[in-house]
Amino acid sequence: MADFDSVDYFTDPSLVPDPHPYFDHMRAKCPVAQESHHGVYAVTGYEEAAEVLKDADLFSSLIAVGGPFPPLPFAIEGDDIRGLIDEHRTEVPMFEHMVTMDPPQHTYARSVLSRLLTPARLKENEDFMWRLADSQLDEFLDQGKSEFLADYAKPFSLLVVADMLGVPEEDHQQFRVVLGAAREGARVGALDDDVLASNPLAWLDDKFVSYISDRRENPRDDVLTSLALAKYPDGSTPEVIDVVRSATFLFAAGQETTAKLLSAALRVLGDRPDLQEQLRADRSKIPVFVEETLRMDAPVKSGFRLATRATSVGDVEVPVGSMMMFCPGAANRDPRRFENPHEFRLDRKNFREHMAFGRGVHTCPGSPLARAEGRISIERILDRMLDIRIDEEHHGPAADRRYNYEPTYILRGLTDLHITFTPNP
Ligand code: HEM
Repeated sequence: MADFDSVDYFTDPSLVPDPHPYFDHMRAKCPVAQESHHGVYAVTGYEEAAEVLKDADLFSSLIAVGGPFPPLPFAIEGDDIRGLIDEHRTEVPMFEHMVTMDPPQHTYARSVLSRLLTPARLKENEDFMWRLADSQLDEFLDQGKSEFLADYAKPFSLLVVADMLGVPEEDHQQFRVVLGAAREGARVGALDDDVLASNPLAWLDDKFVSYISDRRENPRDDVLTSLALAKYPDGSTPEVIDVVRSATFLFAAGQETTAKLLSAALRVLGDRPDLQEQLRADRSKIPVFVEETLRMDAPVKSGFRLATRATSVGDVEVPVGSMMMFCPGAANRDPRRFENPHEFRLDRKNFREHMAFGRGVHTCPGSPLARAEGRISIERILDRMLDIRIDEEHHGPAADRRYNYEPTYILRGLTDLHITFTPNP
């Protein structure tokens, strides 16, 4: 077993299959403990993580995604670094996306989303999800087996975001191909090689610049038009590129994460025939099942904040400029908050208290979508796939499973998940 006091959380592959023993070790030492390689404060306690996330003024999101990589573009000087942060903001990766912004700039960027994530729009998006779940399953159901991430989880989560943004259905296949969620052999001749070879995120920006500019000139009765006409809270009109970034960031934030939730849920169904039976017998338990999957396998593994001033978290004093790492998966298994935290339980009373979607002003605005995607997918999968099992050829027998997880400290999710089932067309 790795020596958790000397292991480098950010690079050591031994922590990838299961980071929880490391999180437990750190929390037992102290829920706010400095790790030895980069001096990052690992916040593994539930209350302590909430404390950090709820104070956006004391804890800046400048480094929300990368944490200690790359290093800060400035030296920490003085006892308040808010000015330094403003001065150097554009030198930090992903500065143009809301996840790294602080109020008031963050409030403006996020307000654009409120045009999109309305109850009426969510309802329409849900209607699309039911249709999409079936058409996605139709693609492979008769085979009785599947690599679930490529066949279902990735294309499904991609197209849900595309629909939420009002991307016309005739463009969906193009999005699937360019953004890499296409199934093998699905590379239809709609695109030339130049487009495929280019940077998919730049492609996405260009695509949305053309949608938004077009809708500003020729408003129609569609979602892209309401996005194009969105105003900031002070009544001013955002630049096209700023609307575009709020929109395209949804692909970055909502696709991989939800694909990880869906595959984690399917792994549980395959590994726990008892839970599969319970859900088949009582579908009203599906929402709890989705929440418990999020608690046990939080798709965002680590996020970061920068202390703008000296302060304390829990009982620990942290100096100005400290990098704080919150780990939703660690908070979700804090025994002070969740009884028998390592157990997957459908009768857990406080199942909704997990921190998989974060806390505070940056709390995931896509959580209603992700929850609906989980609920609807599981409903249709239980309807149409009987006797779901983990494919032992790929993952070994029940007593000795082998799963591969993506080797990153930012997200937690399976690289592949092979299942077998009896089709129920
Ligand atoms: C299971 C799926 C998902 C999980 C676990 C998840 C998790 C998170 C977390 C933990 C944050 C906070 C990051 C921080 O505080 O630094 C976040 C932010 C965000 N998420 Fe999600 N997310 C999921 C799905 C989605 C979906 C489907 C969308 C949109 C379609 C989305 C859009 C966003 C956006 C735009 C932000 C940035 C919000 C801000 O900075 O104010 N997410 N997500």
